[in-house]
Amino acid sequence: MSIFTRLKPIDSVHDNPGGERLKPTLSWPHLVALGVGGIVGTGIYTLIGQAAGLAGPGMVISFLIAGVVSACAALAYAEMATMMPAAGSAYTYSYVVMGEPVAWFVGWSLILEYTVVCAAVAVGWSAYAGGFMVWLDLPITPALLAGPEAGGIVNLPAVAISLAVAALLAAGTRESATVNFVLVILKLAALAAFIALALPAFDAKHFTPFLPYGISSLGENGMKLGVLPAASLIFFAFYGFDTISTAAEEAKRPGRDLSIGIVGSMLLCTAIYIVVAIAAIGAVPAASFATSAEPLALILRNLGRASWSAMIGGAAVLAFPTVIMVFMYGQSRIFFVMARDRLLPGSLAKVNAKTGTPIAVTLFTGVVSAVIAGLAPLKLIAELANSGTLCAFVAVSLAMLIYRRRDPNRPRVFRTPLAWLVGPLAILGCAYLFWNLPALTQRLFLIWNAIGIVVYAVYGVKKSRLAQG
Ligand code: ALA
Repeated sequence: MSIFTRLKPIDSVHDNPGGERLKPTLSWPHLVALGVGGIVGTGIYTLIGQAAGLAGPGMVISFLIAGVVSACAALAYAEMATMMPAAGSAYTYSYVVMGEPVAWFVGWSLILEYTVVCAAVAVGWSAYAGGFMVWLDLPITPALLAGPEAGGIVNLPAVAISLAVAALLAAGTRESATVNFVLVILKLAALAAFIALALPAFDAKHFTPFLPYGISSLGENGMKLGVLPAASLIFFAFYGFDTISTAAEEAKRPGRDLSIGIVGSMLLCTAIYIVVAIAAIGAVPAASFATSAEPLALILRNLGRASWSAMIGGAAVLAFPTVIMVFMYGQSRIFFVMARDRLLPGSLAKVNAKTGTPIAVTLFTGVVSAVIAGLAPLKLIAELANSGTLCAFVAVSLAMLIYRRRDPNRPRVFRTPLAWLVGPLAILGCAYLFWNLPALTQRLFLIWNAIGIVVYAVYGVKKSRLAQG
């Protein structure tokens, strides 16, 4: 049979012919926490500075654009995740709706996304950890706080946190989800404190000129500037809810739990972000925190709130590992499902009998993201992660629309409202954000997928479970 007609039957997505099955241990509060745990992190705490550098005060619009595109994709995710509550998210939906080659492309892009997100968040964590250590009067040598591109040797704290989280995650889902729950509360409390302290210093003068670099322009060195490139970067801050759907197979009551988890966490975070962005620019001029690696802490220091600034740093230090955890968790599940489908070696799908987690792939992900976090610059890896995510969002929105046509009568626990408006908006929005990414990022994404096509042609085409009949 042609590879293009290899569609996974929807009723088989729970199938596990080899007996490899994840335990259903999670309920909706775990899933909302998993979502918020994945969404709030380096994006709002760190990349907000770089976004301000790219767009000036107009970054508030960038937040809005990235938020609307992500919200549209989140609705499509909720519909697909509740209809197919099985591990694998965008990869699994693509397999059922668009066939194996598309599924492979999406799964391969998700591997890129999840691994580099872990690295990017580890770098953000390291910056806040460095600032916090200065406050404790125990500064870390700058050469060990940045990779070679940023003038250092290696980002040692970023390496350490990547490996530590992988080890924690390998120890078992349940404990990790509970720890995640507590830290999510801390992370949100810190953002609430930031808003409460920054808003009283609000000065409308900081919002003019509102668009110093316009909607989209080119800087001296050919760098893309303006509202749209900033939206393409700050998009990083909005995803994470999608990792909830990778845990679908472990949800106790998938229908209800997944819709609440995905839509709830997404809306909550978007609302908080817009207020944080307005409060940050209102408090100090955008240029003053544009180059900072820990902009929220810097803003509070500039407002004379050194202790509160250290508190924000402390919250980030304690809570960012939950973000890494959510994505590493998602990563190991993507490997798991692709290996279960025999598109990757079956040994990767081995679940440890005691912890119920795929230990080998979790540790492997930890090591790879540690290497990237130790050496690569933050903006590059964040944008690379965005490229993989944008691809997954397009696939899910497309799958949602195609499946509405193909099987309109199948019961849907959650239905995307105004699907024929929301779906195309997500697809076009994601394509436009991809277009506004730096050319280097676009090239790296294409190279990664060219490698993926070779791997599929050499391995997956023949080994695929569907090829075995
Ligand atoms: N949304 C996640 C973050 O901002 C990836 O850290």
